[in-house]
Amino acid sequence: MFKVLGILSVVLAGAASAQQAADAVEPEAGGVGAFDGLPAAFTAALAAKDAGKAVLASDWMIAAANPHAVKAGADVLAAGGTAADALVAVQVVLGLVEPQSSGLGGGAFLVWYDAASGEVITLDGRETAPLAATPRLFQDAAGEPLKFFDAVVGGRSVGTPGTPALLAEVHARWGNQPWASLLQAGIDLAEGGFAVSPRLAKLVARDAERLASSDVTAAYFMPDGVGVAAGDTLTNPAYAQTLRAFALDGADVFYGGSIGREIVATVQGVVDNPGVLSEVDMSIYRVKKRAAVCAPYRGHDVCGMGPPSSGAVAVGQILAALEGFDLSAGPQDLDVRRLMGDAARLAFADRGRYLADSDYVPVPVTGLLDPAYMAERAKLLDRETALEEVSAGEPAWDHALLWADDESIELPSTSHISIVDSAGNVASMTTTIENGFGSRLMVGGFLLNNELTDFSFRSHKDGVPIANRIEPGKRPRSSMAPTIVMKDGKPVMAVGSPGGSRIIGYVAQTIVAVLDWGMDVQKAVSVPHAVNRFGTYDLEEDTAAVELTEGLTAMGFEVGARGLTSGLHVIAIRDKLHGGADPRREGIAYGR
Ligand code: GLY
Repeated sequence: MFKVLGILSVVLAGAASAQQAADAVEPEAGGVGAFDGLPAAFTAALAAKDAGKAVLASDWMIAAANPHAVKAGADVLAAGGTAADALVAVQVVLGLVEPQSSGLGGGAFLVWYDAASGEVITLDGRETAPLAATPRLFQDAAGEPLKFFDAVVGGRSVGTPGTPALLAEVHARWGNQPWASLLQAGIDLAEGGFAVSPRLAKLVARDAERLASSDVTAAYFMPDGVGVAAGDTLTNPAYAQTLRAFALDGADVFYGGSIGREIVATVQGVVDNPGVLSEVDMSIYRVKKRAAVCAPYRGHDVCGMGPPSSGAVAVGQILAALEGFDLSAGPQDLDVRRLMGDAARLAFADRGRYLADSDYVPVPVTGLLDPAYMAERAKLLDRETALEEVSAGEPAWDHALLWADDESIELPSTSHISIVDSAGNVASMTTTIENGFGSRLMVGGFLLNNELTDFSFRSHKDGVPIANRIEPGKRPRSSMAPTIVMKDGKPVMAVGSPGGSRIIGYVAQTIVAVLDWGMDVQKAVSVPHAVNRFGTYDLEEDTAAVELTEGLTAMGFEVGARGLTSGLHVIAIRDKLHGGADPRREGIAYGR
């Protein structure tokens, strides 16, 4: 084993400054919906959430970001479908009713517990960089990084979508219902119309200028030049047509078929910011099965998505650093927040330097989660004030390579789906088109991702390469952290959230809330957020978290209050299933 020695100190400042740039951009809006026309049981689930109560069920359960999507999945489970079948139905409806966050033009990571084998498996349906992409993709003629939204809006940021392939793969592996039947709820809603949710309306209003960059996108979200309003009935015949083609031809219609060709033509055809995605990129796309990355915490195994996501490693590192400390004083205790904040800073320092697509660059996953390494990192927390300086550590690994700190900016959007079926299979899937409304390009009634901006815009710093630089065919580093918590080989919780790089903090806090603070899942997702990503310690505005401002500042943290719109969807598996849905968004947990 080699150790990385002598990393240049000059590169340390970079990740923190990129993080500050991300901090400056407003997060995705929250908002809670009003949903007419749903059966009473679904509005009761919304009411339970409003009352702060977990939803209980005996047989199966779904927690996701929109009641229409939950209903589509629930109908599949009620008909005897598996969690895999339900996942397909939920995703295609989310792509219609919450189109800004995820869909067929994006990518996703699935963590799956297979009841028959007892295995935890992960499937990587992340977008890929086109073969023609170069490390200069997001740089100007002088080699300087483009402004974030100059890179996002248009064809340049679009990676090969992975979600259609992932859905087909999930169904082929674990589904038992006819494929076409799983797309029918999406077709019916797209043709019959659905009520625009308050959150979608708010986001359209806020993004009007960027949505106007594409005629097709503007015509859908802003018919006659006016943004759709909450409660408007919106139909999407183009999406219905896409789903009919997907039902008939499967994922081939994207990867070598007519929809794929339309995606490529749209991306390449943007006049002022074309992309380099090609039909070859579409036809060679593959879902990758990868080993789950599991980390111990309080007698449990916390299992999630390894590279190209940083999710499982960073969540695992935060929990490993906290393991030796007593957190029972709860979320309003200053020392608990000091520990959680600095554990996250340490994890983000490592993430910035080492995490990227491990098919392209060696990533020391084992070294980063090694108990001896984490014990050394945890020792740094044995103090009373904030760490004055935080930098990446030197985990053991078998490649002597030098990486500079990454500079990518991930903004919060995305969606999370948790499902448990009656056979005991568990699905935890986080799904995204990256920024809210992605690249702002629409094809076949769905939005195309801007996932390539999750790469570092710079490829090197001071001559030292950045692990998460753009390379042809590579998958951009993610923060998505779909997680299944195991105890004695059995799943006890599925959890995940949207939120860009804040996902890691949201998921870690929810696990601590359940395992350390003894909260039921609805209380756990409702705990005010305090998130540190190696920059400002973000405290959730208008909540009890801001009461920590003075104390944390006195400890040496830089502190700010802001909206922190997680979208946590959690199912705990106990004597019954307990579901929790984030009160900051429109989702519900529902089961039977
Ligand atoms: N684009 C959000 C993520 O992958 O973390």
